[in-house]
Amino acid sequence: MKWKIGNIEIKNQIVLAPMAGISNPSYMKICEEMGVGYAITELLSAEAIVRENKKTLEMLNGIDKLNIPVAIQIFGSDAATMAKAAQIITNLHQKVLIDINTIWCKC
Ligand SMILES: Cc1cc2nc3c(=O)[nH]c(=O)nc-3n(C[C@H](O)[C@H](O)[C@H](O)COP(=O)(O)O)c2cc1C
Repeated sequence: MKWKIGNIEIKNQIVLAPMAGISNPSYMKICEEMGVGYAITELLSAEAIVRENKKTLEMLNGIDKLNIPVAIQIFGSDAATMAKAAQIITNLHQKVLIDINTIWCKC
């Protein structure tokens, strides 16, 4: 069954969970080929993104090659840093959603 997040259509109800150390773009591509309709990356530090940490940004290499809707999960504890990180990510990767992991957010 199709469903939507905002105006983004997702073709089925098979979702790849965000899993640290596992849900990278290569794994997501394999899962797409196996029928996943929507995938979320492993958590990425908003602080590291804002600092333009090379290793963190490289974790998204290949994300634009996916043909399914994709969310990039960011985590952090400061709302302004989270917002800035989301802005940086959506400037670099126009087609993605942002998934917010804010267990300790002070916002
Ligand atoms: C190895 C591993 C890594 C995970 N990493 C994340 C993560 O980065 N972000 C997150 O929100 N959840 C993470 N989770 C939680 C999963 O996304 C999922 O919510 C959880 O496993 C419950 O789903 P299940 O009942 O199908 O196992 C992780 C789970 C596992 C097993």
